[in-house]
Amino acid sequence: MITIPFIILLTLVSLYFGKTIRKQNTKLYVGFTVLAILSFLLRYKLPFTEPLNQGYLGFSFLYLVMFAGALKKGSRLSKSLMSIRREYSIIGFILLSPHSFKYLVEFLNGDRSFEWFGILPYIIMLPLFVTSFMIIRKKMSNKAWIKLQRFAYIAYILIFIHLIIVAKAPNLFVYIILFIPYIVLKLKKELS
Ligand code: HEM
Repeated sequence: MITIPFIILLTLVSLYFGKTIRKQNTKLYVGFTVLAILSFLLRYKLPFTEPLNQGYLGFSFLYLVMFAGALKKGSRLSKSLMSIRREYSIIGFILLSPHSFKYLVEFLNGDRSFEWFGILPYIIMLPLFVTSFMIIRKKMSNKAWIKLQRFAYIAYILIFIHLIIVAKAPNLFVYIILFIPYIVLKLKKELS
């Protein structure tokens, strides 16, 4: 349930602080990386690390990255989300890392089964994350970069399956409610 307030908050942040996010992006990446490492290290000790270690916050960032691509161009919301899409995708990936490593460690310790539908999108997103940084992107042709970014759609589908498999009510309904408008808007945009 916490994903809904996170998504609302992050939408408002994109509307009112987009310029600051773009300007201060490096500081934000460093700050969120420190936060991600600390929350992984303190995962069983501090309850406030739960939104990170359970994937809620990282997913909220990624959801807005997905949603931005489904919105019709031109609206204020579309403009502000598109303007910080790169930053939100990088931060989202950073914040999903403690979640992914937590469950990977639990699997390696024999405490959990392997979560294919979590691992696969995380692996797919890794090259997308690396090539989001301008310093790397500049080394690629625009065509190659766009081609690579298309893999994001496979990651989104796998994340949806991951959430349907692992989540229980009421969160399960939240994810279904979040994905329906995304799919409808995206199909509408692509088919028009
Ligand atoms: C790549 C992107 C990923 C996203 C967006 C994501 C997102 C989430 C979210 C939001 C939840 C909470 C579901 C709920 O409401 O209960 C969750 C649960 C879970 N995830 Fe992921 N996840 C990802 C990757 C992974 C990876 C790599 C693993 C395993 C190594 C994993 C293993 C799990 C497990 C085991 C749960 C259930 C936890 C429980 O029993 O409470 N996830 N994931």
